[in-house]
Amino acid sequence: MEERNYNSPGYTMFKQNFKRLSGIDLNSYKDQIHRRTHELMARWGAKNYDEYFAMMKNDEKKLREFLDHLTINVSEFFRNDSQWWKLRDKIIPELISKRGTKRLKLWSAGCATGEEPYSLAILSAVCGLDTMNPVLAGDIDQGAIATAQKANYRKAQLLNVPKDYLAKYFTTTDNGETYTVNQDIKRRVSFKRFNMIEDNFNSGFDIILCRNVVIYFTNETKAVLYEKFFRALAPGGYFLVGSTEQIFGYQKIGFKTAGPFLYTKD
Ligand SMILES: C[S@@+](CC[C@H](N)C(=O)[O-])C[C@H]1O[C@@H](n2cnc3c(N)ncnc32)[C@H](O)[C@@H]1O
Repeated sequence: MEERNYNSPGYTMFKQNFKRLSGIDLNSYKDQIHRRTHELMARWGAKNYDEYFAMMKNDEKKLREFLDHLTINVSEFFRNDSQWWKLRDKIIPELISKRGTKRLKLWSAGCATGEEPYSLAILSAVCGLDTMNPVLAGDIDQGAIATAQKANYRKAQLLNVPKDYLAKYFTTTDNGETYTVNQDIKRRVSFKRFNMIEDNFNSGFDIILCRNVVIYFTNETKAVLYEKFFRALAPGGYFLVGSTEQIFGYQKIGFKTAGPFLYTKD
């Protein structure tokens, strides 16, 4: 088995090859992906990085398996629900009155299989936001986006959905085992594949959610991303991070705190 050093020439070459194949820079992800690479190499009996890369290149399933370790898609509707009720009861009404319009620009960055942007879309309906500005939802994982667009969910993913929302915004055809998001909510979301590390961001967002995504990235990558999110936010807008996350040096970037896991800018 090839040397297990994160900086070995073999692994450096593997990262370059993988970037060419997938567009994803493994240098931006924490060391755990290096450990995972070795686990997968052992599983498939690959003697070195070149052999494993050749396997991935020739076998879509092995590439998919590797990608799945990078793009952990776990999500749920209204994850950490108290944050969501704050958006619904305070942040969105305040933005409507501050902006003098119901046309707000909302973004779910790292939207996985759709639970987060559909939760935003439900709040957008509840708060009466204009449907002309759909929630933007982006993820690097095309497979996750395809699942999101189908909008079918098991009841375990819907535990935080209030009963009246479930009745109003979802349909079940099997007595509550699975639910489909209704068309009027689906219409409020626009999905797009994007790589937050490589791609440019749009700007002028009133609310950005980037939750449980950057936890997989190195501190250097996080710092660059938080600068990009800051620039993407409109003055007076809000940036919500995951409930285990915080932005180190947020003041230096220009953010102000606006409560737990919530930042704003003047
Ligand atoms: C654990 S999910 C988070 C889902 C949702 N935000 C939540 O909190 O429930 C992490 C998502 O980040 C996506 N992701 C990872 N790297 C990314 C990148 N460079 N650009 C965009 N999305 C990325 C993954 O594909 C995955 O769907």
